[in-house]
Amino acid sequence: MATQQGPTTPTPEQAHFDHLMATDSRVEPRDWMPDAYRKTLLRQISQHAHSEIIGMQPESNWISRAPSLKRKAILMAKVQDEAGHGLYLYSAAETLGQNRDQMMDALISGKARYSSIFNYPARTWADMGAIGWLVDGAAICNQVPLCRASYGPYGRAMVRVCKEESFHQRQGFEILLELANGTSAQKRMAQDAVNRWYAPSLMMFGPPDDDSPNSRQSMVWNIKRFSNDELRQRFVGMMVEQVKVLGLTLPDPDIRFNEDTKKWEHGPLDWEEFKEVLAGRGPCNAQRLERRRQAHDDGAWVREAAAAYAQKQSAKAALQEAAA
Ligand code: 3HC
Repeated sequence: MATQQGPTTPTPEQAHFDHLMATDSRVEPRDWMPDAYRKTLLRQISQHAHSEIIGMQPESNWISRAPSLKRKAILMAKVQDEAGHGLYLYSAAETLGQNRDQMMDALISGKARYSSIFNYPARTWADMGAIGWLVDGAAICNQVPLCRASYGPYGRAMVRVCKEESFHQRQGFEILLELANGTSAQKRMAQDAVNRWYAPSLMMFGPPDDDSPNSRQSMVWNIKRFSNDELRQRFVGMMVEQVKVLGLTLPDPDIRFNEDTKKWEHGPLDWEEFKEVLAGRGPCNAQRLERRRQAHDDGAWVREAAAAYAQKQSAKAALQEAAA
């Protein structure tokens, strides 16, 4: 039962919330919710939104260098989708009482987290394939269960996001398949990209369960449906089959299916590297934040114009109301 430390007899509001949890029902913005539930949702949803926005950078840097018009159009569509995902998620977060400016300030000041994965460089065109296939593949693995998150706006945003993610992963898989069936140099480029993106994509799922302070409560509150390790091993199981079709290999000789636990096992991950990236000392942290700050400054005139227009419209409406 999802209760918090407190008086033995729950208040009617807490009892209603506990009933929603116990019956695996949806919590909506107008429902009462424990402060801690609101806080962890704001934390996760705003970070998710930041990840989508920052995640546009590695790929948008390659739009002008796409090898064909078709690839350029597909990559542009994907990057635009990510922007949309960020907007859905900021809107979901705003229903919890934090406004977009506050969230944007937290990101730009470096206070807010976003996914570790986007602090790695996209060195070649093959990285567009590895990001689509591995990073969006991991995102799908993580986001499909979130479609059933107890908080309504989050779960519903995820349904739309997941539909678009499958296109994202498919186009990445196709890029790698083309390269893997191309010249030996192209196949080497594809394998190099998979080698560089494999471990960081496994770390996207978060630290090992024993080091995951938020997981237990998030699972009690039906936000998280599976633990970090559970989703990570599922993802490995999906990639193991798909990499065979690509004719490439995963850079992990320790991958095996454990017949006893019925789970996939993988080699050790560098959690010190993970902590360094989370601390802002990853390969591209500074560059990503600087770019975001620049984009925010460049867009100031749009925000000012929209605010001035909104103010003019409301003044006009007030005059019309007074005249009526
Ligand atoms: N990157 C950055 N921070 C991470 C992280 C990662 N990959 N994994 C964990 N962390 C942080 C957590 O935020 C938490 O710090 P905090 O308490 O200061 O917020 C700390 O590390 C401990 O981790 P926990 O496992 O206790 O935290 P969670 O229970 O929140 O689990 C999570 C982490 C699995 C990332 C979870 O927040 C989640 O599922 N988030 C939604 C999915 C998401 O954000 N995906 C990001 C990628 S978006 C994307 O891929 C776009 C696609 O289109 C490419």
